[in-house]
Amino acid sequence: MAHQSDLIATDIEQYLQQHENKSLLRFITCGSVDDGKSTLIGRLLFESKMLFEDQLAALEADSKKWGTQGEDIDFALLVDGLAAEREQGITIDVAYRFFSTDKRKFIVADTPGHEQYTRNMVTGASTADAAILMVDARKGILTQTRRHSYLMSLLGIRQIVVAINKMDLVDYSEQRFNEIVEEYGQFAEQLGLSNITYIPMSAFKGDNIVEPSPRMTWYHGTTLMGFLETVEVDDTRMQRAPFRLPVQWVNRPNLDFRGFSGSITSGVIKPGDRIRVQPSGKESTVERIVTYSGDLEQAVAGQSVTLTLADEIDISRGDVISIAEAPAETADQFESTLVWMHDDALLPGRPYLLKIGTQTVTASVTDIKYQVNVNTLEHTAAKQLELNGIGVCNLSLDRAIAFDDYQTNKDTGGFILIDRLSNTTVAAGMLHFALRRSQNIHMQHVDVNKEARALTKGQQPSVLWFTGLSGAGKSTIANLVEKKLHALGGHTYLLDGDNVRHGLNKDLGFTDADRVENIRRVAEVSKLMVDAGLIVLTAFISPFRAERRMARESLAEGEFIEVFVDTPLNVAEERDVKGLYKKARRGELKNFTGIDSAYEQPEAAEIHLDTTRLSADEAADAVIQLLKEKGVLLGAN
Ligand code: ADX
Repeated sequence: MAHQSDLIATDIEQYLQQHENKSLLRFITCGSVDDGKSTLIGRLLFESKMLFEDQLAALEADSKKWGTQGEDIDFALLVDGLAAEREQGITIDVAYRFFSTDKRKFIVADTPGHEQYTRNMVTGASTADAAILMVDARKGILTQTRRHSYLMSLLGIRQIVVAINKMDLVDYSEQRFNEIVEEYGQFAEQLGLSNITYIPMSAFKGDNIVEPSPRMTWYHGTTLMGFLETVEVDDTRMQRAPFRLPVQWVNRPNLDFRGFSGSITSGVIKPGDRIRVQPSGKESTVERIVTYSGDLEQAVAGQSVTLTLADEIDISRGDVISIAEAPAETADQFESTLVWMHDDALLPGRPYLLKIGTQTVTASVTDIKYQVNVNTLEHTAAKQLELNGIGVCNLSLDRAIAFDDYQTNKDTGGFILIDRLSNTTVAAGMLHFALRRSQNIHMQHVDVNKEARALTKGQQPSVLWFTGLSGAGKSTIANLVEKKLHALGGHTYLLDGDNVRHGLNKDLGFTDADRVENIRRVAEVSKLMVDAGLIVLTAFISPFRAERRMARESLAEGEFIEVFVDTPLNVAEERDVKGLYKKARRGELKNFTGIDSAYEQPEAAEIHLDTTRLSADEAADAVIQLLKEKGVLLGAN
């Protein structure tokens, strides 16, 4: 160990106690690539004497080997742990580091500045008390600086240091410093950011990091370490907020004990307190607060506990236990801000998984109200959100959840969206408020239901969902199947892509977003027709798995029958009944399925028709055979 406190060797107990009593500051660093974040963190670790001697020796050797900073130590090498990063010279993953000084303990999330890694910044920032925004004195305020500032305002980070770095490369110019302060100040004002501290520094040379720099005597403010050690942290804020406990699991070791376990995200709870379980709305009283080390008289935000209640009420994972006098809200439609973090754009209408606290539900964006231009803060219309796009969107969930608005409670108001097929996180979001319209519209009961309607027709309502490339033969086969069903006395309706696109969907084209909407509407219409008791046939390319799955899941088990009309691209292209493939190949038709727009084949269709081996009539017979086996036509066998 280099020069850590001697106490470690002489009195470890006292050393640990000193540590325990120090306050903790969590902060993030952000900025553009090459602004010097890694160097700064390396410098802070070095200055706070958290480096081991052997690390230091390795660092000196590495600095010489990589030769990025001549004979000097390159602190960035300490932080940029991955070889790939060293080669590219950028930081690519969020890394949490711990260090401490005599006054305080620190956890810093080093968030990458590369455009693609907004996600890591959002992850790192959600728990941060302060943010250090790195600006290269030579480059000034960049798009990335603005984007990160906008995110900081969204995420509600209260303390911001604008670290104007690399002052050594602008001759420690006061004028340059003032220019950047002026420019950033105007932008920050528009964002409503306050509590901003500007520090001119050189992380590389060590200017204004710990000691005031003799090379910038014109600056009279705090050093960076001075700021970090003294900035006020309001760590009781979450304790003062109303009590919330998202239930992680129901603890039922035997019939006599039933407890609800989780980590308290805000507030305080005591035995005897009246609570409300959400979204169900049922109320009860806390009996015991159980922990591994015995029962508690009181528990606060940050603690993990198990609550037992006075009444037997139904509670499951994902529910939120709130204090009854100030409960969370419940709703299934919201306005929210979304930060899109994936290469594939956000498509309104597509179902994603939404995770908020311990709740997971299915959600889709019903409307992108506007997108924010992070440079000008202007609101612009958008049909989809691309990577790094930030927008205000309406969301619709498949069921109600308990929530708070993000400004009040980051844990019960912050969420992520996950792609259902790839399981990757595609967005981070902040809930604003519930949409009133959803609360004023209720499902009406009707006496004549699907079963009654279907019975008079002697059939089991279903959807035959034909999917395949353009020119695969979907319409031809669907048409034959309908004729055969009709002859057997079935009551059917055929929704055909080309026809529906002349009416209901004539406002839609062939972008991914429009295709999603096309299929969403067709799925809704099919569902209504199934409710009317019909056997519905749909013939749409329906190229994406996500939407076919949505159509399947909107119906009851067994009602959705996926028919894969499998005609290989070369065969469909050779037939080219409508001449569209030729047009697409000539570049006269954009986004043509199979050419420059994807077709995702079904993985588990109920029936697979290989049209290179079956005639259209044989294919139709195969479908009829399947329907008979499934008992769709109750009379016909
Ligand atoms: S889907 O992808 O949204 O399901 P849909 O089945 O409604 O497509 O419409 C496909 C039909 O539109 C094709 O059979 C073809 O006749 C016509 N069409 C026109 N432009 C395109 C295109 N870019 N891609 C695919 N089909 C197109």
